[in-house]
Amino acid sequence: MKKAPYRRITTKTLSEMKHEGEKISMLTAYDFTFARIIDESNIDIVLVGDSASNVIAGNETTVPITLDEMIYHAKSVVKAVKRALVVVDLPFGTYQSDPQEALRSAIRIMKESGAHAVKLEGGSEISDSISKIINAGIPVMGHLGLTPQSIYKFGTYSVRGADKSEANQLLKDVKKLEKLGCFACVLEKIPSKLSKKIHKETNIPLIGIGAGDAVDGQVLVIHDLLGLTNEFNPRFLRRYLDLNSTIKKAVKRYVSDVKSKKFPNKKEMY
Ligand code: KIV
Repeated sequence: MKKAPYRRITTKTLSEMKHEGEKISMLTAYDFTFARIIDESNIDIVLVGDSASNVIAGNETTVPITLDEMIYHAKSVVKAVKRALVVVDLPFGTYQSDPQEALRSAIRIMKESGAHAVKLEGGSEISDSISKIINAGIPVMGHLGLTPQSIYKFGTYSVRGADKSEANQLLKDVKKLEKLGCFACVLEKIPSKLSKKIHKETNIPLIGIGAGDAVDGQVLVIHDLLGLTNEFNPRFLRRYLDLNSTIKKAVKRYVSDVKSKKFPNKKEMY
């Protein structure tokens, strides 16, 4: 018998999905309109990602985006979402220095936006901050592998966990996050063999982006999936549309109609 669709996704639902073998779908959104469209398309998790720094604000990295800006995006997304779990990235600089500050940042996101959970990049080095947030009753999603907020430390967006010591550390970190009580963990750009090993040895839902198929779910940036961006072409990205050229064609037609006085026509006037 076909199972009825979930009415509202919670952190508990995600763990049930993992254990029943139902894959988890996750996409980013940063505004009301996109959030409503993807929620109505039955996405399981909406991530208000700090990738807003790139695709919305036009910055080169995720480093500059502020807590106030993340809350602004999250508020618009929360208003639109009726079914999915809404997770918000804690931006760079709002949780690394001390656990008290991390908790204050997470509380601001939860109180001011109405989101359901926060996501933090990093492993054992931020474990005190993660514990503090979880102990306050705020669900935390981890993010390991490629962690774009640390781009200046690594200097490249290349695959992580490719050598033995980095792979071992990654596995240790996922285990640590699980022990701390994170409800799920994003694994970004790591070899699928390593994801498989991590999946075997841990129990929390693992959401991959460039981490192969041996994980419990997948996440992409909505602008990449729709082909709004065209300069970012990693191997893991599947574009479902080419909206960049579709929109350009539409705008060019509009410009031409305005110039040639074909818009507006009689029916479009009062
Ligand atoms: O900010 C973001 O969009 C993310 C995803 C790529 C996982 O963290």
